[in-house]
Amino acid sequence: MADTYDLTVIIPTFNEEENIAVIIEAVNSVLSTSGIHGEVLVVDDSSKDRTIGIVQEIAGNSDNVRLIVRREDHGLSQSVVEGFRAARSDVFQVIDADFSHPPELIPRFYEAIRGGADIAIGSRYMKGGDIEEWPLARRIISLGATAFGRMLFPEITDPVSGFFAVRREVVSGAPLAPRGYKILMEVLGKGRWRSFVEIPFVFKDREEGKSKLRPDTMVDYLRQCADITRFSVTRRAGPVWAEWEKIVRFGLVGLSGILVNMGLLYALTEVAGLYYLVSAAIAIELSIVSNFVWNDIWTFKAARDLRLVRNLQRFGSFQAVSMGGLVINMGILYLLADVAGVYYLIANLAGILIAFAWNYAANRHYTWRGA
Ligand code: GDD
Ligand code: MN
Repeated sequence: MADTYDLTVIIPTFNEEENIAVIIEAVNSVLSTSGIHGEVLVVDDSSKDRTIGIVQEIAGNSDNVRLIVRREDHGLSQSVVEGFRAARSDVFQVIDADFSHPPELIPRFYEAIRGGADIAIGSRYMKGGDIEEWPLARRIISLGATAFGRMLFPEITDPVSGFFAVRREVVSGAPLAPRGYKILMEVLGKGRWRSFVEIPFVFKDREEGKSKLRPDTMVDYLRQCADITRFSVTRRAGPVWAEWEKIVRFGLVGLSGILVNMGLLYALTEVAGLYYLVSAAIAIELSIVSNFVWNDIWTFKAARDLRLVRNLQRFGSFQAVSMGGLVINMGILYLLADVAGVYYLIANLAGILIAFAWNYAANRHYTWRGA
């Protein structure tokens, strides 16, 4: 039955009574104007509102709309995976019900796949993409989370996007064990794909209903990153496997930087007699310089370029990324400890991990591009 349709548009829902009828209508009109023979598959997690009834009625009156109501294992990613299994086509498009993802772009995703891409990703973080109306806290969390995803997939600007299309072969047979929100990461980490295309889009915050993002989403996400890492390392395949040597070196350099920092703080304060905050500022800066040199001659040696200007550019970029990492570390620490009430040492650990991911991903992408 896999080729009954050209495309399956999977819409996961939980309590979307205000949006669901309108989004199905919008998707169907995009499909018909672009001449795509597609089906709409709503995967609902036992909504408590009128969503189920509304979709049942629409499905009864149209032959390309189907509803799956799930009773167990509640979750966005699980629902999408169930949609993959039930789809009657070989190309899957995933889209939110709340108009955060513009349905008009569906034909571009479909064309990208038809044109040979295994995955087409809607990106908020590439040129032309953006996020409308997100509060600062949510932006910081999203940036931190995206940094982690980007460490795993340095080429992809938005590996946690919920708006993407994928070929059946990529996911069929892949041991997807999704939890939480980031199904695309799971597909990228465990699916069989080679080529991808990113399509910029502007993410609009929902106008109706409210976001179902919960605090433990973050923890789920970190676990998922660890799981994908484990998968890559044990199978010696996948995204992290291709990067592991650089990631480990970068981590070791970071540890050496802590030693440099502590040693200098001690020596400048105790031996040179400087005020400890002055020593600390010097120690931080010199550890950044030392980390830069080691990463330049060891971790990312393939990207070395001996011209002075190029060295200064790389250093400037590394310095800026390091400052960004500091802000992310402090920001996450503050948000988790002060806003979410997490014990501050645990909060700091999360901050360090995410800042590390940011530092790695951003330096890999900007400072030592092509290493
Ligand atoms: N089946 C099912 N089960 N659907 C769910 C669940 C669930 O547990 N939770 C949310 N959904 C549906 C919503 O009804 C909506 O259609 C879509 O999944 C996105 O949910 P939102 O609650 O609106 O997500 P968001 O706006 O916070 O998150 C968005 O950004 C993420 C990236 O930062 C979504 O686009 C995600 O897909 C995306 O990963
Ligand atoms: Mn949303």
